[in-house]
Amino acid sequence: MNRILCIGAGYVGGPTMAMIAAKCPAYKVTVADINPERIRAWESEDLPIYEPGLDEIVKACRGRNLFFSADPDAHIEDADLIFVSVNTPTKTFGQGAGMAADLQYWEKTARQILANAKSDKIVVEKSTLPVRTAAALARILHSGDSPVHFEVLSNPEFLSEGTAVRDLEQPDRVLIGGADTESGRRAAAELVRLYEHWVPRERILTASVWSSELSKLAANAFLAQRVSSVNSLSALCEATEADIGEVARAVGMDGRIGPRFLNASVGFGGSCFKKDILNLVYLCETYGLPEAAEYWRQVVRINEYQQDRFVANMVSSMFNTLAGKRIAVFGFAFKAQTGDTRESAAIRVCRHLVAEHAHVVITDPKALENAQNDLADLTARVGFVHDPYEAARGAHAVALLTDWPAYADLDYARIYASMMKPAFVFDGRNLLDPRPLFELGFNVYGIGKAPLTRV
Ligand code: NAD
Ligand code: UGA
Repeated sequence: MNRILCIGAGYVGGPTMAMIAAKCPAYKVTVADINPERIRAWESEDLPIYEPGLDEIVKACRGRNLFFSADPDAHIEDADLIFVSVNTPTKTFGQGAGMAADLQYWEKTARQILANAKSDKIVVEKSTLPVRTAAALARILHSGDSPVHFEVLSNPEFLSEGTAVRDLEQPDRVLIGGADTESGRRAAAELVRLYEHWVPRERILTASVWSSELSKLAANAFLAQRVSSVNSLSALCEATEADIGEVARAVGMDGRIGPRFLNASVGFGGSCFKKDILNLVYLCETYGLPEAAEYWRQVVRINEYQQDRFVANMVSSMFNTLAGKRIAVFGFAFKAQTGDTRESAAIRVCRHLVAEHAHVVITDPKALENAQNDLADLTARVGFVHDPYEAARGAHAVALLTDWPAYADLDYARIYASMMKPAFVFDGRNLLDPRPLFELGFNVYGIGKAPLTRV
């Protein structure tokens, strides 16, 4: 049991398999994808995703026990353990459009496995999937007349982008869901054995498949709910002159609540929070639980409210018009330390700014190419520049949307001198110290804080 195939070489498949290869030198790990460009990039000097520490790991294992392939079918029979890590986006058509998970890529993968496997396999769901998908997977895999036995496990991934390598190396927990049968327990034990190469045994949890599938959706829903909770309170802080930083600190020092994930912001982004909550909402509705569905739906609503509120605040603070004004957007990635822009709050904010006829100039250290793709229909009104000083030159306002630490270290006196007056800073991440900016002459607006303003 030491040949592993991972189908899907994305943000999860690539880093996860690189970590397994690094920690388990006796295993041969192949990562396959139908996108040949992505595979070429994994094989090149310029990996397809940016993650601190990933280059070193991939380069140390590549060609030794980590291999990439654009032909998943060719490696299925050779593998004992097959991870499925394909994308599971929100469905955009038909029943459940805008809510349910689109399972077409995942189902295609199941059929590929069935068509190519000639000996027994353990198939591991790494993708985030609706509860009870493993049952559907098992049905597809056993649908032919092949004597091959497939054991389906759920092993959801909890890594965060930007800290993927650290999260994989020292996970809070590894969750393995398996059937309560002899072959199910044997398969789960195989996967436990793999992770035991570097994860302490007490951090490896086993559960039923359904609990494992649901726990992944639940964990993301809880995390996103914390952000929406603190963001809803940030609106109240702005109305009452309470300070969300002080409130979050006081609340988070309660050991039962904890201090992490309580940073008010322009809104959460990323490929998963919204998609997974909507998936949860859809499941609740499907099982006839409308009140539970409504509870979780509100987490997404508050997030959209927060993004819209950010722009509304810009408009009202800047004399009720942004038409013809240059706005420098600092940061487009959905969080720092990644080039990923999927569902980034910046997309919605920039689209609103353009709708107000502002001229938007975006800068970001890693995400400019993705930003250009996301806003490809708006290029007449949106510029993209590498240098934040250039973005800010002649601007009426800076809108800081990603918490890149480098933005805290810029020379704001120089930026102020190059801007139109009155000059505004809207800090969507509470990253900057407002007082020195105010003293330089800026009107400063944070999230959930009283503004420092002269106008
Ligand atoms: P991704 O879009 O970056 O990668 C998915 C890859 O699967 C793509 O490269 C695609 O070409 C490939 N693919 C699709 N169909 C295929 C097929 N039939 N055969 C071979 N390859 C195929 O997605 P991702 O961000 O890696 O997410 C994958 C899954 O992991 C999703 O379910 C997601 O919810 C979950 N997840 C993501 C993260 C994250 O931080 N991005 C974290 C935890 C869990
Ligand atoms: C999230 C989860 O943290 C991972 O555990 C999970 O595996 C992953 O989703 C997934 O399933 O895809 P990720 O989206 O990469 O990871 O990043 P997070 O650090 O969770 O941040 C998500 C968003 O919330 C970002 O836009 C971030 O800026 C925002 N956020 C986070 C806040 O606005 N405030 C906070 O206090 C924390």
